[in-house]
Amino acid sequence: MSGLHIENLCAWYGAAQVLHGVHLRIDEGEAVALVGRNGSGRSTLAKAIMGLVRCAGDMRFRDVPLIGLRPHRIAPLGIGYVPETRDVFPALTVRENLVLGESKGTRFTQDDAFRLFPVLEERASVKAGALSGGEQQMLALARTLAGDPSLVVIDEPGEGLAPQVLAQVAACLAALRERGIAMLLIEERLTIARMLDARVAVMGHGAIRFDGAMETLRQDAAVTRQWLSVGGSVDSG
Ligand SMILES: Nc1ncnc2c1ncn2[C@@H]1O[C@H](COP(=O)(O)OP(=O)(O)OP(=O)(O)O)[C@@H](O)[C@H]1O
Ligand SMILES: [Mg+2]
Repeated sequence: MSGLHIENLCAWYGAAQVLHGVHLRIDEGEAVALVGRNGSGRSTLAKAIMGLVRCAGDMRFRDVPLIGLRPHRIAPLGIGYVPETRDVFPALTVRENLVLGESKGTRFTQDDAFRLFPVLEERASVKAGALSGGEQQMLALARTLAGDPSLVVIDEPGEGLAPQVLAQVAACLAALRERGIAMLLIEERLTIARMLDARVAVMGHGAIRFDGAMETLRQDAAVTRQWLSVGGSVDSG
């Protein structure tokens, strides 16, 4: 089996169960947008994939079972993760951050990073902590790509970005898609998902409530009403 297969995934923080039987499949090279309201469990699913929360069920990436694997074993399988917090090392320069993210023999070199994100080359000697939110997002993404993933899990990349910067980040994600990198794109609204024409999975109360084409979701007013906030509807941005 190729891609990521998730079946009946449950996850807990301590005694509190947050994911209640998630089913989701991401094929090689496919972009899937995971949307839902605040607190619906989207980030928890990302953390579960990366081995960062306690979970049970069946989850495989390219046939390798992920449940029970430690985070440092999961990333080398080819899964990159850009958390909500956009982890960059603030005291290190842009260039140093990129070098640290590099895996041996990566197909994504520093030159690639600079080609995809020209602003990072301009800011190469600047400390990451001094970058704007959009620049930090690009650096976090470039660092993740330097790890040579075939699937990128990216949590709310557009959060807090001005529309113009958001469009830039979206263009970068589109470029990745063209390179055949699969993506789980977590958003609150379908802003970037629409630009990528991603398949859509809607999460509500820790389970997937809709999974299909954006056009199908557009015609399903009940799903939008029940599981997405007004601003998350397919037709608003
Ligand atoms: N570290 C944690 N410890 C305990 N509970 C948590 C923790 N992180 C999240 N939760 C709870 O798990 C539920 C799902 O949170 P999650 O972060 O997955 O939601 P989300 O869909 O990413 O929403 P948002 O990013 O808008 O907060 C929420 O009820 C949240 O309060
Ligand atoms: Mg979240």
